[in-house]
Amino acid sequence: MSDSQALFSQFIKDVHAVWAAESDMGRRMERTKPLFEALVAQPVMQAESQGWPSTEGHKNLLLHTDETYGFVINAVVRTPHRKGSVHDHSQAWVLYGLLEGHESLERYDRVDDASDPTKAEVKLAYVTNGGPGNVDLVPPYAIHAEQGGDARSVALIFRSEVLVGRILQQGYNLETKEVVRRSGPTQIPFTLGQAAA
Ligand SMILES: [Fe+2]
Repeated sequence: MSDSQALFSQFIKDVHAVWAAESDMGRRMERTKPLFEALVAQPVMQAESQGWPSTEGHKNLLLHTDETYGFVINAVVRTPHRKGSVHDHSQAWVLYGLLEGHESLERYDRVDDASDPTKAEVKLAYVTNGGPGNVDLVPPYAIHAEQGGDARSVALIFRSEVLVGRILQQGYNLETKEVVRRSGPTQIPFTLGQAAA
């Protein structure tokens, strides 16, 4: 087992312990956040992510689907200056942790009365900038966009449940105000340690 695989397995074990002790999903995710911060701060993980393939074309690497609790761990590898679309993750909680590069996370408020399911007026509320080791917790239905920085960036994504193939997520077009319901990124099965081998 490679160092990264060992770290990753230990992380999964630690998450299982937290989730066994806590039934509320928001609390589970809040308590998973420091574990995830420690994982994305690991030099071994950061070094290995330099060899991961691009996920351009609305793809994610799929590192883990948990058989016990149903959470999912993905990775996304963005090209420099990647323009992220405005979206939500439906009912899922998401931890988004940077391994390499810098990104800005834009948060949007919905400012209409939400009476029309096909249209939405959203307004930029605030932006946070993140670098390697930083983790954001994105609650259900929070409207946001991840924007690439000057260089390649890589993030690990911890999703509280499987969405792709089950539940549609919303995309928000800022110009036309259209809401597009869509499936999540194409899942590319990926084993840690394989790029370094
Ligand atoms: Fe997102």
